[in-house]
Amino acid sequence: MDKELEAEIHPLKHDDEKPRGNSESRTEKDGSFKKASHHSRFAQCRTVVFFFLLFTCLFVVFIISFIIPCPDRPISQKMWEINYNTAVSYDFMAFKDINEDTVQDIIFLYKDSNSSSSFNISCADEGFSPCVFLAAVSGANGSLLWEKPVAQEVANMECFDHQTTKGPPPLSGCFIVGKYNSFLAVDSSTGEILWKLPSSFGVNTSILTPFLNIPDVTDDEVQDLLLFLKSGREIKSYLFSSSTGEQVGFVSRLNLEGDVGYVMHVTNTGAYYIIFHSASSLYGYSLKDLYEQMTGKKNKFEEDPYWKIMIDNATHRIPPSHSWGTIRYLMKVPGSAGEDILLVKSDACELLDGQTLISKWTLNTSEVVRKPVLGYYKPGALAIVLENGTGEQRKILIVDAASGAILWSYTLNSFAGTPKSATVKTADRRSAFFFWSTTNQMETVDLQKNLYMFHPTFPNIFLELTNITKNIVAFNVLFEQNHHASYVLLTGPTNQEWPGPVSLSKQKVKENVLTAQVIWLGPTRRENEQTIKDRFYELRYKREA
Ligand SMILES: *[C@@H]1O[C@H](CO)[C@@H](O)[C@H](O)[C@H]1NC(C)=O
Ligand SMILES: *[C@@H]1O[C@H](CO)[C@@H](O)[C@H](O)[C@H]1NC(C)=O
Ligand SMILES: *[C@@H]1O[C@H](CO)[C@@H](O)[C@H](O)[C@H]1NC(C)=O
Ligand SMILES: *[C@@H]1O[C@H](CO)[C@@H](O)[C@H](O)[C@H]1NC(C)=O
Ligand SMILES: *[C@@H]1O[C@H](CO)[C@@H](O)[C@H](O)[C@H]1NC(C)=O
Ligand SMILES: *[C@@H]1O[C@H](CO)[C@@H](O)[C@H](O)[C@H]1NC(C)=O
Ligand SMILES: *[C@@H]1O[C@H](CO)[C@@H](O)[C@H](O)[C@H]1NC(C)=O
Ligand SMILES: *[C@@H]1O[C@H](CO)[C@@H](O)[C@H](O)[C@H]1NC(C)=O
Repeated sequence: MDKELEAEIHPLKHDDEKPRGNSESRTEKDGSFKKASHHSRFAQCRTVVFFFLLFTCLFVVFIISFIIPCPDRPISQKMWEINYNTAVSYDFMAFKDINEDTVQDIIFLYKDSNSSSSFNISCADEGFSPCVFLAAVSGANGSLLWEKPVAQEVANMECFDHQTTKGPPPLSGCFIVGKYNSFLAVDSSTGEILWKLPSSFGVNTSILTPFLNIPDVTDDEVQDLLLFLKSGREIKSYLFSSSTGEQVGFVSRLNLEGDVGYVMHVTNTGAYYIIFHSASSLYGYSLKDLYEQMTGKKNKFEEDPYWKIMIDNATHRIPPSHSWGTIRYLMKVPGSAGEDILLVKSDACELLDGQTLISKWTLNTSEVVRKPVLGYYKPGALAIVLENGTGEQRKILIVDAASGAILWSYTLNSFAGTPKSATVKTADRRSAFFFWSTTNQMETVDLQKNLYMFHPTFPNIFLELTNITKNIVAFNVLFEQNHHASYVLLTGPTNQEWPGPVSLSKQKVKENVLTAQVIWLGPTRRENEQTIKDRFYELRYKREA
């Protein structure tokens, strides 16, 4: 037995000793051999069982991680397009995941004589002819989710995701003001009309945008609606309950005249203010003041002690900033401490501190004719995209929001009808930028528009994604599931009086990259074009925080 044990421990040594042994030792050896083979079969079994279990485990892991979730994943098509033959479209698009398939769905407006067949709704049934439909289509494949005739003609609309403090799930609504005395709210999740009222805004009035979604004042846990109207040259405010459409209190006349724009701003102390611009001045109205004037009730909102002193209590003027140009746009820009205010003026762009309204920087861009968009050029550092120029050339400027320094610029051809720029965040905390240029084609009536993609890792490269000759009514780029990005285009007639082909399409950016053309912005061509396209193809996108 000792020897056997030793044989197991030192098999070779035992073998070496073997030739010297007699028959007795041979039989002993045979016995030990039998036992050893028994042992190795046992070991084999063990190995088989081990590998069987290992593979079973791996298989289960594989099933769980790859196969099972697959049926739940909605398949978002690479590209889809829906068409209407004789319709009109509007510069309005909202995104919301309506069917809860993790893909953003698209809400848009179109005017047609009858609905797009899937739902047999006739305009005449609703007393309109023709009518404007509010429609929602699946972002995944363009199938119609719901549609509703909302008005004979739409003047303004706005969609919000309301926050409720408790109770029912957040109500999300689109508020539509019709041109001919109608005011209604549509639940954007279902397309149900929440309420519909004849509007009482009066003749010669125009409703201003944006509609403001203010904290609940009607004690129904739903945020309410503050509208501003221009009647003649006067500016008036109206307050409505979001859930019933009921007007809350009286109309208040503001001490403002002419063309105005505004933003709702929250100060560092949490006080709400509406900042207006009119000509070259800024005016501040606290929500507390407006609310008290409209309802006669008190103690609903707070005032900011600093702003109370800063704003002239008779004229509501905010002390002038440095330059005197006419203010064209007012925009909120997230800063290090709260939101700052960007003024786009006829002589410069200026960023004001969101609390003190003291100028942080000024930039000589006198011809910014479009509301700027925000993006990230350096990782995590917000930048402002300005389009400077009114003629055939338009300079795109990417400006650091903190310092006002120009980080990048490039001049593009641009004629009227060039769509706005757009950005989408990438996984490296920067943004992909999308710019349009137009080429004047003498022989055809339609201008050719080129869509370029730009990423700060390649500051001297544009990827030309696509060419389009149709008239673009609305354009945007959005983050898609699985770290993709897509762009949505709404095209239609240039003149709303003349119905024609309307189309809504969505295209994955990645698919366009494959067929894109690399455009070199400078003389240096350091990299291989295929390598660049591969890098753009592999870009991963991030949801906007
Ligand atoms: C839709 O069509 C069905 C059957 O053709 C009809 O019963 C129904 O009333 C129609 N609905 C509308 C809103 O026209
Ligand atoms: C719209 O639909 C209604 C009912 O289906 C139909 O009677 C009418 O002729 C249609 N109008 C047009 C312009 O197609
Ligand atoms: C589109 O996708 C939805 C789910 O998002 C699905 O229910 C519908 O059947 C699809 N339609 C088509 C035409 O593929
Ligand atoms: C509406 O405006 C027009 C032109 O601006 C004017 O002639 C008309 O008198 C105004 N109507 C009312 C009711 O103010
Ligand atoms: C403005 O404020 C001053 C002091 O804070 C006060 O004396 C004055 O009555 C106020 N004027 C108006 C119009 O409220
Ligand atoms: C901006 O323009 C003003 C006058 O229009 C000029 O005084 C100023 O020097 C310019 N600033 C820069 C940085 O070019
Ligand atoms: C913006 O455009 C105006 C007019 O073309 C020009 O004077 C100005 O220098 C431009 N600003 C920048 C920063 O390029
Ligand atoms: C766009 O049109 C230009 C000619 O104007 C052509 O060279 C280019 O290949 C087109 N790009 C795409 C992506 O189709």
